[in-house]
Amino acid sequence: MDAFVIQGKAHLSGSVLVNGSKNAALPQMAAALLTAEPVTITDAPRLSDLASMGQLLEELGCDVEEAGRASPNTGGVKNGYAGTAEPASHRSVGRRLRIQTVDETATHARYEIVRTMRASISVLGPLLARRGVARVSMPGGCAIGDRPVDLHLRGLVAMGADINLCSGDITATAPVGAGGRRRLKGARIFLGGPFGSTVLGTANIMSAATLAEGTTVIENAACEPEVQDLGRMLTAMGARIEGAGTPRIVIEGVEELGGVDHRVMPDRIEAGTFMMIGAITNSQITIENCPLDALMAVTDRLERIGVKITVREPGWVDPMRVRCDVTCDRTLNPVEMTTQPYPGFPTDLQAQLLALLTIAEGNSVVTEKIFPERFLHVAELTRMGASAFRQGPTVVVSGVRRLVGAPVMASDLRASACLVMAGLAAEGETIVRRVYHLDRGYERMDLALRDMGAEIERIDDRDLERREEEAVAASTARIHSALAG
Ligand code: EPZ
Repeated sequence: MDAFVIQGKAHLSGSVLVNGSKNAALPQMAAALLTAEPVTITDAPRLSDLASMGQLLEELGCDVEEAGRASPNTGGVKNGYAGTAEPASHRSVGRRLRIQTVDETATHARYEIVRTMRASISVLGPLLARRGVARVSMPGGCAIGDRPVDLHLRGLVAMGADINLCSGDITATAPVGAGGRRRLKGARIFLGGPFGSTVLGTANIMSAATLAEGTTVIENAACEPEVQDLGRMLTAMGARIEGAGTPRIVIEGVEELGGVDHRVMPDRIEAGTFMMIGAITNSQITIENCPLDALMAVTDRLERIGVKITVREPGWVDPMRVRCDVTCDRTLNPVEMTTQPYPGFPTDLQAQLLALLTIAEGNSVVTEKIFPERFLHVAELTRMGASAFRQGPTVVVSGVRRLVGAPVMASDLRASACLVMAGLAAEGETIVRRVYHLDRGYERMDLALRDMGAEIERIDDRDLERREEEAVAASTARIHSALAG
């Protein structure tokens, strides 16, 4: 397993290119199951989660291949992303993933793959809509808390699906319609749970409804930009959708969908993470291909803290693909932040903001309303000298003058990003173990940070042990020689 060795007090400069969005690309890959035509996703990031989804789709009878690069400014200047030189090799902007169904007999998404990536549940709706049957392993919980799918299933049952749970698998069949074809039926569905709506649940139901007989209304749909981006892709495939990205989506089912070449939106969580990396290291950096329009709740809090986000290009630009400069006041102000469904502050940036607030001047209050258990990063930050007190879904962070480097353990994707941030700002060396968590959602963050001047090294755990043994041996030898002398 890999670890990062990070030298602290980093001062960064230069720019970073934001990749395509993981959380938009995953349900878009699953949506390729809705058609026998080729589906190409441009700007698909090189992440282990997408590799897992690709493996799952291959098991479900799809060809999945890389179709070469488009120019990173595929949309030309009108996109506002005037682009710089060809992005460094470790950035995927321009990469094209091509998916085409070649065999529709397979309908089982196995536990071995689903357990590694919860977003595999996104294949349930498309499989059921297109093939009439589906067997998908129930995704387990994860480090950030329970991950139920009751809302997904409630929606599909409302559309006529017969659903059973047996030995950890969801087995679903669509009702037999006219001509003996199994086909879901349009329905009116309320998709609200105790923590609000569901992002992947909305994606599942919206995708399934595109091929259903009749009209489906989803009330209390998730409004995340990733849902809106999926709606754009499905519409380009021939679906009839109104309201994607709003709480009420209306889908009129059609007989067939065609192929599409869709450019996935930039990753707003990656962009927000780099904004906070610039802030915690008190650096001035530029973020390219930044979906600033989808980050208003985040820039609202960051500006309150003392972080300035300035759009580089004057005049009309695509507000989802801008170039912006990040600068920061020397002293950071404490804030209150509560995570909410979009357009509120995203839960996927909670850990990163909390890391930033550990060095603010005063007490901040962070409340997690989406995944109340999503605080495994707090104990690790405390090891680095942070002062944080958790009471249920709320953490009070008392700012300290400095963090101190230490060996820490990543527990989940966004917690690992928060520990890298803390390591860059701390005094001394930080070792972040289990960075495979980070590689699920950030493409070679170590290389992107090194391009901006960070001293960060990816190292195999075994080399780490060897390095630590050598250090112990050297210090022992020094002690012996001092005693002998
Ligand atoms: C998506 O997960 C994202 N993942 C998550 O990002 C993100 O944290 C989450 O949305 C919330 O924004 C992807 O898009 C691949 P939910 P999803 O269903 O759709 C409860 C990351 O770091 N709920 O919107 O699985 C659930 O327990 C990942 O990139 C039910 O009660 O999340 C949670 O409390 C982590 N019943 C809340 O709703 C259900 O049937 C929101 O979950 C479904 C969810």
